[in-house]
This record gives sequence, structure tokens and C-alpha cells, in this order.
Amino acid sequence: MKQFKRHIITSALPYANGPIHIGHLAGVYIPADIYVRYLRSKGEDVVWVCGSDEHGVAIELKARKEGKPPQEIVDFYHNQIKESFLEFGISFDIYHRTSSKLHHKTAADFFKQMEAEGKFKIETSKQFYDEKESQFLADRYIKGTCPVCGFQEAYGDQCENCGSTLSPTELKFPRSMLSGEAPVIRETKHWYLPLDEYEPWLKDWLLEGHKEWKPNVYGQCKSWIDNGLRPRPMTRDLNWGIPVSVEGGEGKVLYVWFDAPIGYISATKQWAIDNGKNWEVYWKGDDTRLLHFIGKDNIVFHCIVFPTILKAAGGYVLPDNVPANEFLNLEGSKISTSRNWAVWLHEYLEDLPGKQDTLRYTLTANAPEIKDNDFTWKDFQTRNNSELVAIFGNFVNRAVVLIHKYFDGKLPERGELQPIDNEIIKSIKEAPQRIADSLDQFKFREALFQLMELARAGNKYLADTEPWKLIKEDKGRVETILNIAVQISVNLSILCEPFLPFTAEKLISILAIEKSKWSAAGSIDLTESGHQLNKAALLFEKIEDKEVEAQVNKLLKTKKMNEQEKLTPNLPALKDEVVFDDFIKMDLRVGEIKTAQRLEKSNKLLKFSVDMGLETRTILSGVAKHFTPEEMIGKRVTVVANLAPRKIMGIESQGMLLFAENSDGKLVMVSPEEDAENGASIS
Ligand code: 2FM
Ligand code: ZN
Repeated sequence: MKQFKRHIITSALPYANGPIHIGHLAGVYIPADIYVRYLRSKGEDVVWVCGSDEHGVAIELKARKEGKPPQEIVDFYHNQIKESFLEFGISFDIYHRTSSKLHHKTAADFFKQMEAEGKFKIETSKQFYDEKESQFLADRYIKGTCPVCGFQEAYGDQCENCGSTLSPTELKFPRSMLSGEAPVIRETKHWYLPLDEYEPWLKDWLLEGHKEWKPNVYGQCKSWIDNGLRPRPMTRDLNWGIPVSVEGGEGKVLYVWFDAPIGYISATKQWAIDNGKNWEVYWKGDDTRLLHFIGKDNIVFHCIVFPTILKAAGGYVLPDNVPANEFLNLEGSKISTSRNWAVWLHEYLEDLPGKQDTLRYTLTANAPEIKDNDFTWKDFQTRNNSELVAIFGNFVNRAVVLIHKYFDGKLPERGELQPIDNEIIKSIKEAPQRIADSLDQFKFREALFQLMELARAGNKYLADTEPWKLIKEDKGRVETILNIAVQISVNLSILCEPFLPFTAEKLISILAIEKSKWSAAGSIDLTESGHQLNKAALLFEKIEDKEVEAQVNKLLKTKKMNEQEKLTPNLPALKDEVVFDDFIKMDLRVGEIKTAQRLEKSNKLLKFSVDMGLETRTILSGVAKHFTPEEMIGKRVTVVANLAPRKIMGIESQGMLLFAENSDGKLVMVSPEEDAENGASIS
């Protein structure tokens, strides 16, 4: 096996358009974190980079939908995601972002250099164009009727009803999601990465050279390559992204899947600047080992497309391995952001504070390493109560409590060893190598099992030797047993750190020891006799039925809402119930619009003065795209009269007008059917 001097480890950059859920953690970030912590513990030179993927159509679409600039969307989610990772102990060396200046320059220069060296092919193709919005339409910007199942809301690239992969021109009655109009076909030019030309090289480098990759990864790559590779466009006609700064690239941006993996390089550059290091040795030194941790939906990009980009650019290391995982399901169904079928990390932390390691443990024990796997709250509870509490926690607690009880918390000396002691000492000696063997093969479930085997053996050792029964007649024997039990606990604190970092910290504090490196583990002389331990404290707490029931109920509620939405797909789901006392806090009144005008700097807002009987209010409302000011004058409206005033564009808005929104987005005024006084209360 090749000897490497350093490791550059990457984890898929999550899109900054939504929060992080347990599927992300299980598939990508926990395995990577375990591996990196293990390498660090071994004293290896390792840099782990990640960051937010802040470009692409999905972000632009979300921004449009919410009427916000894309930068505002990515700023919000970047911070939220970064915080969630931090809370779960995901120990990146840097969490960067692709909207940063450094990344823009790195990706733009990368593209420019490849373009100058003739690494792309420029081709013209026909694409849908929205004449009203003067914009080419990415596949996700087009909806229409699915040619396979007739679903009217199919996207240009996929029908979410029947799962068919589509191309936009296959849709019946296509319509632009920007203007709602039927798009026209226009020609557009793009820069293509000629993957077909790299096919022989890919066959050799990947299919021949990396047969050791996980079967799920190798299999997917083989099937892609065997099906024949086609050139792929590396530019897009979009507004949000990194401008294509070469001749003829006006109005175009880099394809998000070109720019995002280069994000690994720009993150390394930023890390190097922050730490006074040279980024190039991590990406160009041939004794560097590059590893990509990703989910199965990213396999092709990391095993075929990005290596081809690196190869074409020249001088870069290629991935030595891509230990991708399959997907984690939740209570038997696919995790889905749009259906809110997920356990969101920020919500988990609110509901189960301080239980990060329980989730880390469950997700590792159940990791979708070879095939998709399922997360259930019941399993979560069982693993916590029957494994972490009953085995790991119980063992350490018994050892420390007994030492305090019999020896005032001071580690006693070992005396003569008996066969049962030698047996457990053998387990201690073998544990680090067993765990390491599994980790070296990216078998994280197996590695965790090996770790728990040591805790299990420790528990059994105490149960078999029963020091609490021996204390009266043979104190010397108890000294030996408890010394060994503490040595096991010290070993556990080293070996569990990659998996359960919060627990390792607690354990180190209870044992009153310094953090040790991986190489120290396996010994029974880690702590000297006479060493004073701190008081025992629980490593894990039992999870009660009511805690998991609350989580299951939350999911059942989501399920009900999704079912309702399926029956009436165009109507928003019902909001959470409110109690009567909350409802009557709202003061709804009849009003009459006296004046209406546009605001110079906004194409959304209209400014109204509304006669409310007792007084006239100024109210701003985002309806300029739906009504002209002229048609609003004299209209009777429903006003939320006691909404706290808000300043919008420097004007104080003193209430809110109510409108009904039809499923096609059309707004309809909510007015009294018969004459009612201005200021009349609505209840
Ligand atoms: O699938 C995703 O969530 C992408 N944002 C992953 C990008 S990985 C890398 F290339 F940056
Ligand atoms: Zn369909």
C-alpha cells in the first residue's frame, strides 16, 4: 500500500437552502468526523474541509419564491448549518462558503485556465427561454404535464409523482415558473467538459485502479462508464452564481457542480491563510491522500466528473477513495425536505438537549454503509437505554463509584493476576487494533461494535468478579479488579473519542486524566496507582417513553399534513391549532381605501390610506403585481388593526390588509359582502 504523508479530507458541501437533518449526518458528516478524529488521534497530518454550497438553481428559486435576494437566503442557512455542525461536534478544520470572494476567484481562475488551454468544447444547443423575464430556463424552472403519468406539476428534469426522469422538451404544456407563460425555444452556447474523451483514462484509473472502492461506489461508477460518457455543460444561463469571465460568457455562470467541488480547494486555501500553511502541498503533493466523504447521490460527480476536471486542469492529486454511503430513511419512509419528513438537527437539539452523542451513536450503529437503512425513534431509545446506559455508562459508573466507596477515589495497586484478569487484559490489548482495522476499511458500524465489545467485556468482568462481595474477605483482590476496571475506562476514553467526543470529554474529566493519543490505548498502565479520580457522574441518561412518543407524534402530525396536501395539492397545509384566547387577541376591522399609490423604489408594494372609522391609517401591502392603485380606491377591506406598526422602506405601516390567495397565485380582496361601517369589528 502506498504511504502517504498527509490527508486532505472533504465532505460534501451542503446546499445553503435548508437546515441539516439526520440523513446528512449519518451519510456523510459523522463517518467523516470519526475518521478524521481517528487520524488526528494517531498524530497524522490531516486537513478536513467543508463549507456551504451557495449557488445553483434551487437557491435562486427559493429566493424568488420568498422575495429575498439569494445572498440573504444563503447567509441565513450558512450560519444555521455551521452552528448545527458545531453543536454536534463535527470537527471540520474549516467550514467555508462558496459565495466568498476567495472561492469566486479560485473557481473563475480555474475555469479561465482550462478554457485558455482548450480543455472545454463550446457547443450550441436549444433551450427553453422565458420571453417575458428575458431569461433562459433551467430544467427546474419549467413545469408541465408529465408525459408518463399526466401529473400537471412535473418539473423539467423529473416528475415527482411517478419518479420519471424527464427532459424539459418532453413535458406537455410546459410553462415557465418565473412568469407562468409558455416558454419558447432559443439557441444558447455553453462550455462542455468532454467526458467522452476521458473515458479510456477513467476506465484505467478508476475501473482498473480502484477495485478496492466500496461496492456501492464502484458499481455505480462502472455502470455510468459502461453506458458511455457524454460531454457535460459546465456553464449555465442563470443570474446567481460565479460569472463566466471569458469572452462570450456574458450573462452566464459556472455550473454549480463545476464550482462546488472547487470549493474544497478554496476552503483549503482559506485554511492555509488562517494557519500559515501552504495549500498546494495538500492538493498537489503526490504523497497527499485525498478522500471524499459523500452520499450516494454525489457519487458520479466525485468519482467521474470532478476527477476529470482535476485531471484536465493538471497537477492535482486524485481521490484515493470515496467512501460514499447510501441513504438513511426515517420511520420507513424516504427523508424529504419538501415533505418535512426529517429530524432536523436544530430541532433535535431543542427537544433533546445534551444528547448529541446518543444521536451520533445511533446513526453510526445504523449507518447506511452498504444499503439504505432506517432510523426509528424506538431503536434510538433502545440503543441509548440498553447499550449506552446499560453497558458503557453502567460499567464506568460502577468502577468509579466503587473506587470512591472502598478507596476514597484513589486508584489502588494491582496485585497478582488471575486467569480472568489476563483474559480481560487481552481484550484491552486487542481493542485498538480491532477498531483501527475496521476504521481503515471505512466500516464504521463494525468499528463502533468493537468499541462496545470492550465496554461489554468490562461490564462482564465486574459482574463475574463481583468486587462488592469480595471486599470484606479479600481487599487485595478488589484492588486489582478495580485498578483494571479503571484502566479499561481510560482505554475507552481514548477509543470512544472519534465516535462519542462529548462522552470522551466527560470521561476524561471523571477520571481526572489528560487526553491521550490512539497509540497509548491497549495498555493497562495508563494511570498510576494513587491517582485521585473525580466524583462519578452519569455518562448517559435514560430516555423515557414520553420523550420518544413526542417525537413520533411530531412525525405523525407531519404525515397527516402531507396526506391533506396530497388531496388538495394546490392549497397550503393547515397551520397549527391556536387556542381561543389567542385568536381573540386579533383585532380585525372593516376599512375603506381612500388613497393608493405606488412606491418609487418597489415594484411589489402599494401604499394605502385606509379609513378605519375612528382614524385613518397608512398601510403598505405587497400587492402591486396584482392590483393597480386606481382599482383599489374606494374598496372595502379587512384590516388587522392591532398589528404592531412596522417600518418598511422608511414608511411606518400601521396594520395589514387581508387577501385570499387562490391556488394559481391570484389575490382576491376579503371585503364585507354587505355594507358595514368603517371600523366595524369583525369577530
Ligand atoms: O448534493 C449536494 O448537497 C451538493 N451541494 C453537494 C456538493 S458536494 C461538492 F461538490 F461540493
Ligand atoms: Zn409522472
